[in-house]
Amino acid sequence: MSQHIVLLGAQWGDEGKAKIIDHLAEKADIIVRFQGGNNAGHTIVVNNEKTILHLIPSGILHPNTINVIGNGVVFDMEVFLNEKERLAQKGVDVSPERLKVSEIVHTILPYHRLLDTAREKAKKRIGTTGKGIGPAYGDKAMRLGVRLGEFQEPQKLRSSLKPTYDEKYLQLRELGETNIPSFDEIFDNACSLFKRVQPYLTDSSRYLNRCHQDKKQILFEGAQGTLLDIDYGTYPYVTSSNTTAAFAACGSGLSPKHLHQILGLTKAYTTRVGAGPFPSECKGEDQNAGEWMAQKGGEFGSTTGRARRCGWLDLVSLRRATEINGFDGLALSKLDVLSGLREVKMATSYEIKEKKTKEFPNFGLDEVSPVYESFEGWGSMESIQNEKELPHSVKAFLQRIEEELNTPILMISTGPDRDQMILRKG
Ligand code: IMP
Repeated sequence: MSQHIVLLGAQWGDEGKAKIIDHLAEKADIIVRFQGGNNAGHTIVVNNEKTILHLIPSGILHPNTINVIGNGVVFDMEVFLNEKERLAQKGVDVSPERLKVSEIVHTILPYHRLLDTAREKAKKRIGTTGKGIGPAYGDKAMRLGVRLGEFQEPQKLRSSLKPTYDEKYLQLRELGETNIPSFDEIFDNACSLFKRVQPYLTDSSRYLNRCHQDKKQILFEGAQGTLLDIDYGTYPYVTSSNTTAAFAACGSGLSPKHLHQILGLTKAYTTRVGAGPFPSECKGEDQNAGEWMAQKGGEFGSTTGRARRCGWLDLVSLRRATEINGFDGLALSKLDVLSGLREVKMATSYEIKEKKTKEFPNFGLDEVSPVYESFEGWGSMESIQNEKELPHSVKAFLQRIEEELNTPILMISTGPDRDQMILRKG
Protein backbone atom coordinates (compact mmCIF):
# COMPACT_ATOMS: atom_id res chain seq x y z
CA MET A 1 0.00 0.00 0.00
CA SER A 2 1.15 3.52 -0.67
CA GLN A 3 1.92 5.40 2.53
CA HIS A 4 2.28 9.02 1.66
CA ILE A 5 3.99 11.20 4.25
CA VAL A 6 3.64 14.94 4.83
CA LEU A 7 6.54 16.63 6.61
CA LEU A 8 5.85 20.07 8.05
CA GLY A 9 7.59 22.68 10.14
CA ALA A 10 5.87 23.02 13.51
CA GLN A 11 7.36 26.43 14.36
CA TRP A 12 8.22 29.61 12.41
CA GLY A 13 10.15 27.77 9.70
CA ASP A 14 13.87 26.94 9.49
CA GLU A 15 13.38 23.76 11.54
CA GLY A 16 15.83 21.86 9.31
CA LYS A 17 13.26 20.16 7.08
CA ALA A 18 15.68 19.47 4.24
CA LYS A 19 17.73 17.05 6.31
CA ILE A 20 14.66 15.07 7.37
CA ILE A 21 13.29 15.11 3.81
CA ASP A 22 16.66 13.91 2.60
CA HIS A 23 16.41 11.03 5.07
CA LEU A 24 12.79 10.14 4.27
CA ALA A 25 13.50 10.46 0.55
CA GLU A 26 15.43 7.19 0.71
CA LYS A 27 12.10 5.40 0.81
CA ALA A 28 10.10 7.76 -1.39
CA ASP A 29 9.50 7.71 -5.14
CA ILE A 30 8.19 11.24 -5.50
CA ILE A 31 8.82 14.41 -3.48
CA VAL A 32 6.35 17.28 -3.76
CA ARG A 33 6.53 20.96 -2.82
CA PHE A 34 2.95 22.20 -2.40
CA GLN A 35 3.12 25.78 -1.05
CA GLY A 36 5.39 28.77 -0.65
CA GLY A 37 8.03 29.66 -3.17
CA ASN A 38 11.66 30.68 -3.14
CA ASN A 39 11.15 32.36 0.23
CA ALA A 40 12.15 28.94 1.58
CA GLY A 41 15.78 27.99 2.05
CA HIS A 42 16.47 24.30 2.48
CA THR A 43 20.05 23.42 3.35
CA ILE A 44 21.29 19.85 2.90
CA VAL A 45 24.76 18.69 3.92
CA VAL A 46 26.11 15.57 2.20
CA ASN A 47 29.71 14.57 2.80
CA ASN A 48 30.45 18.02 4.16
CA GLU A 49 29.15 19.59 0.96
CA LYS A 50 26.36 22.10 1.46
CA THR A 51 23.51 22.50 -1.04
CA ILE A 52 20.89 25.20 -0.55
CA LEU A 53 17.60 24.86 -2.39
CA HIS A 54 14.89 27.49 -2.46
CA LEU A 55 12.36 26.16 -4.93
CA ILE A 56 13.26 22.70 -6.15
CA PRO A 57 12.24 19.94 -3.68
CA SER A 58 15.08 18.70 -1.46
CA GLY A 59 14.53 15.14 -2.70
CA ILE A 60 16.32 16.02 -5.94
CA LEU A 61 19.63 14.92 -4.41
CA HIS A 62 18.31 11.34 -4.22
CA PRO A 63 18.81 9.98 -7.74
CA ASN A 64 15.86 7.58 -7.60
CA THR A 65 13.25 10.19 -6.86
CA ILE A 66 11.01 12.31 -9.07
CA ASN A 67 10.46 15.84 -7.79
CA VAL A 68 7.32 17.85 -8.34
CA ILE A 69 6.50 21.52 -7.82
CA GLY A 70 2.76 21.52 -7.20
CA ASN A 71 0.09 24.04 -8.09
CA GLY A 72 0.03 25.57 -4.58
CA VAL A 73 3.52 27.02 -4.99
CA VAL A 74 4.26 30.48 -6.43
CA PHE A 75 6.89 30.01 -9.08
CA ASP A 76 9.74 32.25 -10.12
CA MET A 77 11.01 31.01 -13.50
CA GLU A 78 14.39 32.70 -13.18
CA VAL A 79 15.04 31.19 -9.76
CA PHE A 80 14.01 27.75 -11.01
CA LEU A 81 16.34 27.91 -14.00
CA ASN A 82 19.30 29.13 -11.93
CA GLU A 83 18.78 26.53 -9.25
CA LYS A 84 18.43 23.79 -11.84
CA GLU A 85 21.61 24.98 -13.53
CA ARG A 86 23.58 24.93 -10.26
CA LEU A 87 22.38 21.39 -9.54
CA ALA A 88 23.33 20.27 -13.05
CA GLN A 89 26.84 21.66 -12.49
CA LYS A 90 27.09 19.41 -9.44
CA GLY A 91 26.20 16.44 -11.61
CA VAL A 92 22.57 16.13 -10.42
CA ASP A 93 20.11 14.89 -13.05
CA VAL A 94 17.55 17.68 -13.46
CA SER A 95 15.93 16.42 -16.65
CA PRO A 96 12.15 16.69 -17.11
CA GLU A 97 11.94 12.97 -16.34
CA ARG A 98 13.01 13.79 -12.76
CA LEU A 99 11.65 17.26 -12.28
CA LYS A 100 8.10 18.40 -12.96
CA VAL A 101 6.28 21.69 -12.53
CA SER A 102 2.52 22.11 -12.34
CA GLU A 103 1.17 23.86 -15.42
CA ILE A 104 -1.28 25.77 -13.21
CA VAL A 105 1.30 27.04 -10.71
CA HIS A 106 1.12 30.85 -10.36
CA THR A 107 4.13 32.80 -11.57
CA ILE A 108 6.07 35.45 -9.70
CA LEU A 109 6.75 38.33 -12.08
CA PRO A 110 9.21 41.22 -11.54
CA TYR A 111 6.44 43.59 -10.42
CA HIS A 112 5.59 41.18 -7.58
CA ARG A 113 9.13 41.44 -6.27
CA LEU A 114 9.11 45.22 -6.62
CA LEU A 115 5.76 45.51 -4.83
CA ASP A 116 6.96 43.25 -2.02
CA THR A 117 9.96 45.43 -1.22
CA ALA A 118 8.21 48.75 -1.90
CA ARG A 119 5.34 47.84 0.47
CA GLU A 120 7.79 46.74 3.13
CA LYS A 121 9.55 50.09 2.89
CA ALA A 122 6.36 52.13 2.88
CA LYS A 123 4.21 50.38 5.49
CA LYS A 124 4.25 48.33 8.67
CA ARG A 125 7.12 45.93 8.20
CA ILE A 126 6.44 42.20 8.22
CA GLY A 127 10.07 41.52 7.41
CA THR A 128 9.28 39.53 4.26
CA THR A 129 11.96 37.82 2.24
CA GLY A 130 11.33 40.30 -0.60
CA LYS A 131 10.83 37.53 -3.14
CA GLY A 132 7.38 38.66 -4.26
CA ILE A 133 5.53 35.87 -2.45
CA GLY A 134 2.72 37.93 -0.89
CA PRO A 135 1.95 39.97 -4.04
CA ALA A 136 1.90 36.81 -6.20
CA TYR A 137 -0.50 34.99 -3.87
CA GLY A 138 -2.50 38.23 -3.61
CA ASP A 139 -2.91 38.31 -7.39
CA LYS A 140 -3.92 34.66 -7.41
CA ALA A 141 -6.73 35.42 -4.94
CA MET A 142 -7.69 38.60 -6.83
CA ARG A 143 -7.80 36.61 -10.08
CA LEU A 144 -5.06 38.74 -11.57
CA GLY A 145 -2.41 36.03 -11.50
CA VAL A 146 -0.71 34.26 -14.39
CA ARG A 147 -0.65 30.48 -14.38
CA LEU A 148 2.54 29.14 -15.88
CA GLY A 149 0.82 27.24 -18.70
CA GLU A 150 -0.73 30.47 -19.99
CA PHE A 151 2.63 31.36 -21.52
CA GLN A 152 1.91 28.66 -24.10
CA GLU A 153 -0.35 31.17 -25.81
CA PRO A 154 1.70 34.36 -25.55
CA GLN A 155 -0.50 36.59 -27.74
CA LYS A 156 -3.57 35.86 -25.67
CA LEU A 157 -1.66 36.36 -22.45
CA ARG A 158 -0.07 39.61 -23.63
CA SER A 159 -3.42 41.30 -24.06
CA SER A 160 -4.93 39.95 -20.83
CA LEU A 161 -1.87 40.86 -18.75
CA LYS A 162 -1.42 44.45 -19.94
CA PRO A 163 -4.26 45.96 -17.81
CA THR A 164 -2.84 44.15 -14.74
CA TYR A 165 0.59 45.59 -15.45
CA ASP A 166 -0.88 49.09 -15.78
CA GLU A 167 -2.49 48.73 -12.36
CA LYS A 168 0.78 47.49 -10.81
CA TYR A 169 2.67 50.35 -12.43
CA LEU A 170 0.41 52.90 -10.75
CA GLN A 171 0.68 51.12 -7.40
CA LEU A 172 4.45 51.06 -7.63
CA ARG A 173 4.62 54.75 -8.51
CA GLU A 174 2.37 55.54 -5.57
CA LEU A 175 4.73 53.60 -3.31
CA GLY A 176 7.60 55.75 -4.57
CA GLU A 177 9.20 53.22 -6.92
CA THR A 178 10.75 54.87 -9.95
CA ASN A 179 12.75 52.07 -11.51
CA ILE A 180 9.93 50.05 -13.06
CA PRO A 181 10.62 47.92 -16.13
CA SER A 182 8.28 48.39 -19.08
CA PHE A 183 5.54 45.90 -19.87
CA ASP A 184 7.33 44.72 -23.02
CA GLU A 185 10.55 44.20 -21.09
CA ILE A 186 8.80 42.09 -18.45
CA PHE A 187 6.66 40.15 -20.88
CA ASP A 188 9.34 39.40 -23.46
CA ASN A 189 11.78 38.27 -20.79
CA ALA A 190 9.13 36.04 -19.20
CA CYS A 191 8.35 34.48 -22.58
CA SER A 192 11.99 33.66 -23.22
CA LEU A 193 12.39 32.19 -19.72
CA PHE A 194 9.24 30.17 -20.29
CA LYS A 195 10.71 28.48 -23.38
CA ARG A 196 13.35 26.94 -21.07
CA VAL A 197 10.80 25.97 -18.41
CA GLN A 198 8.21 24.55 -20.81
CA PRO A 199 9.66 20.99 -20.99
CA TYR A 200 9.01 20.66 -17.24
CA LEU A 201 5.30 21.48 -17.40
CA THR A 202 2.98 18.77 -16.09
CA ASP A 203 -0.59 18.35 -14.97
CA SER A 204 0.78 17.50 -11.57
CA SER A 205 -2.55 16.58 -10.01
CA ARG A 206 -3.21 13.96 -12.67
CA TYR A 207 0.39 12.80 -12.45
CA LEU A 208 0.32 12.36 -8.66
CA ASN A 209 -3.03 10.59 -8.66
CA ARG A 210 -1.64 8.20 -11.26
CA CYS A 211 1.46 7.64 -9.12
CA HIS A 212 -0.80 6.87 -6.19
CA GLN A 213 -2.67 4.29 -8.23
CA ASP A 214 0.67 2.80 -9.27
CA LYS A 215 1.48 2.36 -5.56
CA LYS A 216 4.34 4.86 -5.57
CA GLN A 217 5.34 6.49 -2.28
CA ILE A 218 4.86 10.24 -2.22
CA LEU A 219 6.55 12.56 0.26
CA PHE A 220 5.21 16.09 0.73
CA GLU A 221 7.82 18.66 1.67
CA GLY A 222 6.38 21.58 3.63
CA ALA A 223 8.07 24.96 3.49
CA GLN A 224 8.08 27.63 6.24
CA GLY A 225 6.22 26.47 9.37
CA THR A 226 2.83 26.22 11.07
CA LEU A 227 3.18 29.54 12.91
CA LEU A 228 3.65 31.26 9.56
CA ASP A 229 0.40 29.81 8.16
CA ILE A 230 -1.80 32.54 6.68
CA ASP A 231 -4.82 31.33 8.73
CA TYR A 232 -3.39 29.78 11.88
CA GLY A 233 -0.10 31.63 12.20
CA THR A 234 0.71 34.84 14.03
CA TYR A 235 -1.16 37.04 11.55
CA PRO A 236 -0.21 39.45 10.03
CA TYR A 237 3.38 38.32 10.69
CA VAL A 238 2.97 35.25 8.52
CA THR A 239 3.67 34.14 4.99
CA SER A 240 0.95 34.20 2.33
CA SER A 241 0.21 30.50 2.00
CA ASN A 242 -1.24 27.74 4.13
CA THR A 243 1.74 25.91 5.54
CA THR A 244 -0.35 23.32 7.39
CA ALA A 245 -1.10 19.68 6.57
CA ALA A 246 -4.44 20.04 4.81
CA PHE A 247 -2.84 22.17 2.11
CA ALA A 248 -0.63 19.29 0.98
CA ALA A 249 -3.74 18.03 -0.83
CA CYS A 250 -4.90 21.42 -2.16
CA GLY A 251 -1.47 22.45 -3.31
CA SER A 252 -0.76 19.23 -5.16
CA GLY A 253 -4.11 17.95 -6.36
CA LEU A 254 -3.80 14.58 -4.65
CA SER A 255 -6.93 13.68 -2.72
CA PRO A 256 -6.63 14.31 1.05
CA LYS A 257 -7.94 10.76 1.52
CA HIS A 258 -4.53 9.52 0.43
CA LEU A 259 -2.40 11.41 2.97
CA HIS A 260 -1.23 8.71 5.29
CA GLN A 261 1.13 10.12 7.87
CA ILE A 262 1.75 13.67 9.06
CA LEU A 263 5.14 14.38 10.62
CA GLY A 264 5.97 17.61 12.43
CA LEU A 265 9.47 18.95 12.74
CA THR A 266 10.63 21.16 15.57
CA LYS A 267 14.00 22.40 16.69
CA ALA A 268 14.94 21.70 20.32
CA TYR A 269 14.58 25.47 20.72
CA THR A 270 12.75 28.13 18.70
CA THR A 271 13.78 30.66 16.07
CA ARG A 272 11.97 33.31 14.13
CA VAL A 273 13.06 35.58 11.25
CA GLY A 274 11.36 38.88 10.62
CA ALA A 275 8.99 40.80 12.86
CA GLY A 276 6.15 39.55 15.07
CA PRO A 277 5.51 38.26 18.61
CA PHE A 278 7.79 35.55 20.02
CA PRO A 279 6.90 34.71 23.66
CA SER A 280 9.86 32.45 24.46
CA GLU A 281 12.50 34.68 22.83
CA CYS A 282 15.68 34.76 24.94
CA LYS A 283 15.95 38.20 26.48
CA GLY A 284 17.29 39.68 29.74
CA GLU A 285 18.90 36.96 31.86
CA ASP A 286 18.47 34.49 28.94
CA GLN A 287 20.19 36.71 26.39
CA ASN A 288 23.43 34.71 26.56
CA ALA A 289 21.58 31.47 25.92
CA GLY A 290 19.96 33.07 22.85
CA GLU A 291 23.35 34.19 21.55
CA TRP A 292 24.67 30.68 22.14
CA MET A 293 21.85 29.19 20.01
CA ALA A 294 22.42 31.78 17.27
CA GLN A 295 26.18 31.14 17.08
CA LYS A 296 26.25 27.40 17.60
CA GLY A 297 23.15 26.77 15.53
CA GLY A 298 24.32 29.04 12.69
CA GLU A 299 20.99 30.85 12.91
CA PHE A 300 21.28 33.05 9.87
CA GLY A 301 18.70 32.82 7.09
CA SER A 302 19.75 30.82 4.02
CA THR A 303 17.46 32.94 1.82
CA THR A 304 18.18 36.45 3.07
CA GLY A 305 21.20 36.01 5.37
CA ARG A 306 19.28 37.76 8.17
CA ALA A 307 20.04 36.83 11.79
CA ARG A 308 17.29 34.70 13.29
CA ARG A 309 15.84 35.57 16.67
CA CYS A 310 16.35 32.70 19.14
CA GLY A 311 14.39 31.41 22.13
CA TRP A 312 13.47 28.38 24.20
CA LEU A 313 11.27 25.56 22.99
CA ASP A 314 7.62 26.58 23.26
CA LEU A 315 5.21 23.73 23.92
CA VAL A 316 2.15 25.99 23.93
CA SER A 317 2.62 26.86 20.27
CA LEU A 318 3.69 23.29 19.49
CA ARG A 319 0.50 21.98 21.06
CA ARG A 320 -1.43 24.22 18.68
CA ALA A 321 0.63 23.00 15.72
CA THR A 322 0.06 19.38 16.75
CA GLU A 323 -3.68 19.94 16.94
CA ILE A 324 -4.03 21.72 13.58
CA ASN A 325 -1.82 19.32 11.67
CA GLY A 326 -2.69 16.12 13.53
CA PHE A 327 0.94 15.08 13.83
CA ASP A 328 1.40 11.33 14.02
CA GLY A 329 4.95 11.84 15.14
CA LEU A 330 7.62 14.46 15.63
CA ALA A 331 11.16 14.89 14.45
CA LEU A 332 13.42 16.96 16.67
CA SER A 333 16.33 18.86 15.17
CA LYS A 334 19.42 20.63 16.52
CA LEU A 335 19.37 19.04 19.96
CA ASP A 336 23.18 19.23 19.86
CA VAL A 337 23.07 23.04 19.66
CA LEU A 338 21.92 23.16 23.29
CA SER A 339 24.86 21.00 24.43
CA GLY A 340 27.10 23.00 26.75
CA LEU A 341 24.42 25.26 28.24
CA ARG A 342 24.24 25.08 32.03
CA GLU A 343 20.45 25.17 32.02
CA VAL A 344 17.89 24.42 29.29
CA LYS A 345 14.32 25.69 29.50
CA MET A 346 11.03 24.99 27.79
CA ALA A 347 7.77 26.94 27.99
CA THR A 348 4.92 24.65 29.00
CA SER A 349 2.21 27.28 29.53
CA TYR A 350 1.60 31.02 29.19
CA GLU A 351 0.44 33.56 31.70
CA ILE A 352 -2.12 35.94 30.20
CA LYS A 353 -3.55 38.69 32.42
CA GLU A 354 -2.41 36.76 35.53
CA LYS A 355 -4.12 33.57 34.38
CA LYS A 356 -2.18 30.48 33.41
CA THR A 357 -3.17 28.73 30.18
CA LYS A 358 -1.88 25.95 27.94
CA GLU A 359 -3.90 27.24 24.99
CA PHE A 360 -2.23 29.26 22.28
CA PRO A 361 -4.18 32.52 21.93
CA ASN A 362 -5.39 33.84 18.58
CA PHE A 363 -4.91 37.46 19.71
CA GLY A 364 -2.56 39.30 22.04
CA LEU A 365 0.41 36.93 21.75
CA ASP A 366 2.70 39.91 22.38
CA GLU A 367 1.19 40.25 25.87
CA VAL A 368 1.76 36.71 27.19
CA SER A 369 4.54 35.64 29.55
CA PRO A 370 5.87 32.12 29.13
CA VAL A 371 6.00 29.81 32.16
CA TYR A 372 9.16 27.70 31.99
CA GLU A 373 10.30 24.30 33.17
CA SER A 374 14.01 23.98 33.65
CA PHE A 375 16.41 21.11 32.81
CA GLU A 376 19.99 20.51 33.75
CA GLY A 377 22.26 21.17 30.75
CA TRP A 378 24.00 18.36 28.88
CA GLY A 379 27.35 17.77 27.27
CA SER A 380 28.48 16.96 23.75
CA MET A 381 26.34 14.56 21.70
CA GLU A 382 28.59 14.22 18.68
CA SER A 383 29.32 10.54 19.02
CA ILE A 384 25.88 9.41 20.20
CA GLN A 385 24.11 7.16 17.73
CA ASN A 386 21.81 5.29 20.03
CA GLU A 387 19.01 6.70 22.13
CA LYS A 388 20.14 4.69 25.17
CA GLU A 389 23.37 6.69 25.26
CA LEU A 390 21.55 10.01 25.54
CA PRO A 391 22.29 11.96 28.75
CA HIS A 392 19.73 11.64 31.50
CA SER A 393 18.54 15.26 31.23
CA VAL A 394 18.03 14.90 27.45
CA LYS A 395 15.81 11.89 28.10
CA ALA A 396 13.79 13.95 30.60
CA PHE A 397 13.55 16.80 28.07
CA LEU A 398 12.26 14.47 25.35
CA GLN A 399 9.83 12.81 27.71
CA ARG A 400 8.26 16.14 28.69
CA ILE A 401 7.71 17.02 25.03
CA GLU A 402 6.04 13.69 24.34
CA GLU A 403 3.87 13.93 27.46
CA GLU A 404 2.73 17.48 26.84
CA LEU A 405 2.03 16.98 23.14
CA ASN A 406 0.83 13.42 23.47
CA THR A 407 2.86 12.63 20.37
CA PRO A 408 5.92 10.40 19.96
CA ILE A 409 9.29 11.77 18.91
CA LEU A 410 10.39 9.48 16.08
CA MET A 411 13.57 11.10 14.86
CA ILE A 412 16.27 13.08 16.64
CA SER A 413 18.84 14.98 14.65
CA THR A 414 22.10 15.43 16.56
CA GLY A 415 24.17 17.30 13.98
CA PRO A 416 24.09 18.72 10.46
CA ASP A 417 25.37 15.67 8.60
CA ARG A 418 23.13 13.05 6.99
CA ASP A 419 24.25 10.35 9.43
CA GLN A 420 23.79 12.32 12.64
CA MET A 421 20.33 11.01 13.34
CA ILE A 422 18.76 8.77 15.97
CA LEU A 423 15.69 6.85 14.84
CA ARG A 424 13.23 5.79 17.53
CA LYS A 425 10.21 3.53 17.67
CA GLY A 426 7.85 3.70 14.67
P1 IMP B 1 7.33 36.17 2.87
O1 IMP B 1 7.00 34.73 2.90
O2 IMP B 1 8.56 36.49 2.08
O3 IMP B 1 6.14 37.02 2.45
O4 IMP B 1 7.67 36.64 4.38
C1 IMP B 1 6.68 36.66 5.40
C2 IMP B 1 7.25 36.20 6.73
O5 IMP B 1 7.57 34.81 6.65
C3 IMP B 1 8.55 36.89 7.14
O6 IMP B 1 8.58 37.01 8.54
C4 IMP B 1 9.63 35.91 6.69
O7 IMP B 1 10.82 36.05 7.44
C5 IMP B 1 8.94 34.60 6.98
N1 IMP B 1 9.42 33.50 6.14
C6 IMP B 1 9.14 33.25 4.85
N2 IMP B 1 9.76 32.14 4.43
C7 IMP B 1 10.43 31.66 5.48
C8 IMP B 1 11.24 30.50 5.68
O8 IMP B 1 11.45 29.66 4.80
N3 IMP B 1 11.76 30.35 6.92
C9 IMP B 1 11.50 31.23 7.94
N4 IMP B 1 10.76 32.31 7.81
C10 IMP B 1 10.22 32.52 6.58
